Amino acid sequence: MRFSLKSIALVSIAGVAAVAAVPAQAGPDEDILFRQLEMRTMGYSASVIFAITEGRSDQAQYFTALANQMATAAVMLKDSFEPNTVGQGRLPTRAKPNIWDNWNDFSGKLDKLAADTARVAELENAGDRAGAVKAMEAVFSNCKTCHDTYRTEK
Ligand code: HEC
Repeated sequence: MRFSLKSIALVSIAGVAAVAAVPAQAGPDEDILFRQLEMRTMGYSASVIFAITEGRSDQAQYFTALANQMATAAVMLKDSFEPNTVGQGRLPTRAKPNIWDNWNDFSGKLDKLAADTARVAELENAGDRAGAVKAMEAVFSNCKTCHDTYRTEK
């Protein structure tokens, strides 16, 4: 299920204002925005988890929620990337067109991200923090591999 842009526009986050004028219906801009927000969730959660494990954050009580948030975002990403938005929409995107030419490979990489983040959440939910921290290494290995092939340079 997708939420309408109208409801997203109520959330005051950077980037949303640019598409607030678009009518409330699912479309390429919504697909682009959602996948980018979910990727940002990935980046945010991973950064805070990393800071916690390095002792640079005093927010260790959120580790469990962050681990589960990453696992949820990973599942949502596949739906968000499925629509081919090449040549459509007004939002700037760094997604390369080769994603939809190689959908099996790309979606396989998202499946692996989902499996790896689910593993971290599973260990953390079972109370195995050391195991969850170790399993995060596998999660991090997914990011650059995919970005190098399927995301344009800034
Ligand atoms: C299967 C491929 C794939 C994997 C795995 C992946 N990414 Fe991405 N990521 C992309 C693509 C493609 C974009 C560009 C999306 C766009 O601009 O429409 C992106 C964009 C991003 C962005 C920028 C979002 C924005 O604000 O526009 C961040 C941050 C990010 N990814 C973080 C991560 C992190 C952290 C991981 C690993 C935990 C990860 N990604 C794993 C493909 C991937």
